[in-house]
Amino acid sequence: SQLLLINGPNLNLLGSREPAVYGSRTLAEIEQALRDEARALGHELACFQSNHEGLLVDRVQQARGEGVACILLNPGAYTHTSIALRDALLGVAIPFFEVHLSNVHAREAFRRHSYFSDIAAGVIVGCGPLGYRLALLAAHERLASAAR
Ligand code: DQA
Repeated sequence: SQLLLINGPNLNLLGSREPAVYGSRTLAEIEQALRDEARALGHELACFQSNHEGLLVDRVQQARGEGVACILLNPGAYTHTSIALRDALLGVAIPFFEVHLSNVHAREAFRRHSYFSDIAAGVIVGCGPLGYRLALLAAHERLASAAR
C-alpha cells in the first residue's frame, strides 16, 4: 500500500535538537530506514516534513488523491495547538498513527493534550525513533487485517 510519514515543526532538527530528549539520529536517517522497512513489508512510504501548518494541511489533503492508505504522523508542537491539521485528517478520512519520540506525559502539562489522539488509529509515545517503526508495523497489521 501507499503510506505517508509526516513530521511537523522542528523535527528537521532531529540529531542536534535536545539530543537527551529526542535522540541522536537525524530525520533523514530515520526516513531512509523506514522507507526500506516499508518496502520490505510490501509498501511504498513517502516522507514529508514541514515547519508550516498550512503546508502540513496541504500535504494531508493531497494524500487523498494519491490513494494513501495510512499516515504515520508526528505533528510536533502542532500536536497541542492545531485544529486545522486535525480537521484535515478528519476531512480526508485516512487512518493515521500518532507518534511522539518523547514521553509527552512526563513533560510539561501543556504537552499532555493532543488534538489528534482521540481520532488516531493508535498512539505511540516515548519510544524514541523506534516509535516510527512501531507505527509502521501497526499500519501494516491494520492494512493486512482489512484485506483479509
Ligand atoms: C514531539 C513532542 C511535542 O510536544 C514537541 O513539541 C515536539 C516533538 C515528540 O516527538 O516527542 O516537537 O512531538
